[in-house]
Amino acid sequence: MKNIRKVIIPVAGWGTRSLPATKNIPKEMLPVYNKPVIQYVVEEAQRARIEDVIFVTNRDKSVIEDHFDYNLQLEAVLERGGKLDKVAEVRKVAEMVNIMSVRQKKQLGLGHAVLCARELVRADPFAVMVGDDLMFGGVPAIGQLIDVAIAEKMPVIGVVEVPFEKVNRYGIIDGEEISPGIFRVRDMVEKPKREDAPSRLAIVGRYVLTPDIFDYLEQVKPGHDGEIQLTDAMQTLAQHRGMMAVRLTGMRFDTGDWAEFLTANIYFALQDEELHYDLLALLKNFVQLQ
Ligand code: G1P
Repeated sequence: MKNIRKVIIPVAGWGTRSLPATKNIPKEMLPVYNKPVIQYVVEEAQRARIEDVIFVTNRDKSVIEDHFDYNLQLEAVLERGGKLDKVAEVRKVAEMVNIMSVRQKKQLGLGHAVLCARELVRADPFAVMVGDDLMFGGVPAIGQLIDVAIAEKMPVIGVVEVPFEKVNRYGIIDGEEISPGIFRVRDMVEKPKREDAPSRLAIVGRYVLTPDIFDYLEQVKPGHDGEIQLTDAMQTLAQHRGMMAVRLTGMRFDTGDWAEFLTANIYFALQDEELHYDLLALLKNFVQLQ
C-alpha cells in the first residue's frame, strides 16, 4: 500500500447534540479553546503527512472551507495594525493542506457521506476522519493507522475500549489480538444491543480504507437507523480483503458530548503557558465554591 495522501472528512451532519449552539454555526466550527474543532482534525491529518482534505459538506457549511482559505482583507487590516504574528497565524491555516469539497445532498448516513467523495478519491487508498472525535497525545491517531496499513497492506480502523454500558453507541468489532494493541478484524456490528456486542472495542472516527469500499457502499442496504452505514460496508471489505484494527493510545474527546467538549476546552487552554496559571487559579476557586 502506498502512502496515504487524501482524507475524507464528513461535515454535513446537523449537530443536533450541540443545539442551540449549532442552530446557525456548523458544529465543526465551535471553538475548543482558541481554534475551531475542525482545525484540530486537519492538524492531525497534516501531522500524518496527508496533503489533500476532502470535506463532504452541505449548503450551510461553506464557512468550514473559508476557514482553510486566505482572508486577504483580514490580513491587510492586521498588517496595517502591525500585528504580524497574527498575520502569520491566520495565513498558516490557509496553507496547511489542499481543500476540496463535495456536497452530500441528502443526509443518508456516514457510509453515504464517504460514498459522495468517490470521484475525488479515485483509485488510491485514503483516510477517513470523523470531525467530532478529537484525538491527542504522541503519534497522531490517523498516522498510527497509516503505519499499520502500509506494513500490513490492509485497511485499518481505530478502536478504543469503552465501558460495557456504552457499546450500543458505537460500531463494535470482534477481533483477534495478534500483537499488543493490534487486532485482526473478524467481524463488526453497528451499534449492537449491549448483550449482543462481540467485545468492548469501539470504532472511533479514524479509518484507512481502500477504494473497493465504494463498491460495497453502493450495494449495502440501509442498516441501523435506516442509514447507509460505513460499518456495514466495512464488514464486507474485511471479509473480502482482510482488515486490521489499532487500539489508539492518547486522549479522546467526543466534542458532541458537552462534558467532553468542555473538558477539551480546559485541556487545551491549560497547555497554553500564558493562560495556564490564571485559568487554574480561577478553576480552583470556582470548584471550591461548588
Ligand atoms: C459513527 C459510526 C460508528 C462509530 C462512531 C464513532 O457513528 O457509524 O461506527 O463508532 O461514528 O464516533 P455516529 O457517532 O456518527 O452515530
